[in-house]
Amino acid sequence: MKKTFAIMIAAACLGLGSQAAIAGPDGATIFKKKCAMCHAVDVKRTGPAVKTMNKDAAVLKDVVTNGRDGTMMKPYGKKLDAEEIDAVVAFLVSNQ
Ligand code: HEC
Repeated sequence: MKKTFAIMIAAACLGLGSQAAIAGPDGATIFKKKCAMCHAVDVKRTGPAVKTMNKDAAVLKDVVTNGRDGTMMKPYGKKLDAEEIDAVVAFLVSNQ
């Protein structure tokens, strides 16, 4: 019984691990779900167009994580995990 349980846990962990390795968070999907109401690639909406954003990935990451005080750009550091932030920043960079 105990052994069966351990095998089940191991299988569950392997399943999760390999899923993350194969799929990983998708920046385009995150952007569509969480950012596209204010940002578009080519046109300015409430927020700047991706193409006109800062070209420094470290700056982009900082703004996404910590937001920009006094603006509609809120911090996503608690809403997205580190991998999701990296994925969405990679999406921004690859669309500039
Ligand atoms: C409620 C609207 C809103 C949402 C949702 C939003 N943003 Fe913004 N964002 C803004 C505004 C407005 C600014 C401009 C802030 C300023 O005046 O500096 C901004 C600025 C930024 C900047 C800085 C650009 C630069 O050149 O300095 C980045 C990067 C950014 N947003 C990324 C994102 C990402 C990624 C998401 C989704 C996870 C997101 N934003 C969601 C409104 C939004």
